[in-house]
Amino acid sequence: MTEKSTKQAAGENRKTVCCIGAGSIGASWAAHFLRAGLRVISYDSSAEREAYLRDAVKFAWPTLERLGLSSEASIDNLSFTTNLAEALSQADFVQESVFEDLAMKQKLLAEVDAILPAEIVIASSSSGFLASDLRAACTKHPERVMVGHPFNPVYLVPLVEIAAGDEGSPEAVENARNFYESAGQKVVVLQREINGYIANRLQYAVWREILYMFSQGTATLEDIDDAMTYGPASRWAALGPSAVFYLGGRTKELYDSFVVDDLWRELLAGYAAPGDFIPDRALIDRYIEQMHARMRDKEFTDMRRDRDRDVTSVRVALKQSEL
Ligand SMILES: NC(=O)c1ccc[n+]([C@@H]2O[C@H](COP(=O)([O-])OP(=O)(O)OC[C@H]3O[C@@H](n4cnc5c(N)ncnc54)[C@H](O)[C@@H]3O)[C@@H](O)[C@H]2O)c1
Repeated sequence: MTEKSTKQAAGENRKTVCCIGAGSIGASWAAHFLRAGLRVISYDSSAEREAYLRDAVKFAWPTLERLGLSSEASIDNLSFTTNLAEALSQADFVQESVFEDLAMKQKLLAEVDAILPAEIVIASSSSGFLASDLRAACTKHPERVMVGHPFNPVYLVPLVEIAAGDEGSPEAVENARNFYESAGQKVVVLQREINGYIANRLQYAVWREILYMFSQGTATLEDIDDAMTYGPASRWAALGPSAVFYLGGRTKELYDSFVVDDLWRELLAGYAAPGDFIPDRALIDRYIEQMHARMRDKEFTDMRRDRDRDVTSVRVALKQSEL
């Protein structure tokens, strides 16, 4: 055995991720990275978060087993600290997931940037801030600070959106892409900065349409959800919307006329909320009231367990669970 393979056998080359923030996303990242066989050092300013973190990882573990654990995966690879310098001391990659508060993130990312060598990527889970704003207070190597936006729960939804902005280092982006992919994620990279990145913009476009149909009394929220789950989403789990439309053209030759004659005509005919539709507060209140009535007898924990079971079935069936 060479020295390198001896070290690999002993797990010494295993990467260590520092997860900053042990809330719902930080804990979910920790579970995902553990599944990939990585070491995870979780840092949170509140010591009380350790119990939450360990419970969250335990809750996710049966799902991770079904998706397929790496041969080196173990809950024992998780540690927790409230000391930032200690958390960063062995980090090969940093994933920040503290509150969505720009000033707080800027201050924290600047502290992390001041401590770590240039080659270590610092990614933020932010749901909407631009990388150019997040790195504003960093003075050492701001170009390796970027958005690495996941979806909830991270261990179940494979997408991560990398958004580094014009000042981001292409090398750091490639390092982040390689790292996330080796941990089993599907990566998309934004070529330009935009608020909300890609997937949340798509989700909000759909939500706006839901609110519009709700304001018109078109259907109950349950039926609108079912229309998505049993309709488009059953295909979208396998193919993106544009690819689905492409197949709707039946053949390559018919595709152009399908777009021009059918899709474009339907769009112009008003198959979407008018451009001036803005949901008001009264509508949002009615929306919340109907959701509470619908969920009255359901427990969050049961719903999460059912969600994990069903999404795992889709991923396993579509073979989207490889590490
Ligand atoms: N919840 C989602 O669905 C979701 C999805 C994708 C991305 N995000 C993003 O992930 C991030 C975290 O969201 P969340 O829902 O996990 O929040 P959360 O409130 O559940 O957890 C935040 C954690 O950060 C800790 N914290 C706060 N300030 C800190 C600091 N200065 N240093 C160390 N720890 C600190 C808190 O103690 C808490 O444990 C946000 O940026 C959010 O926008 C959330």
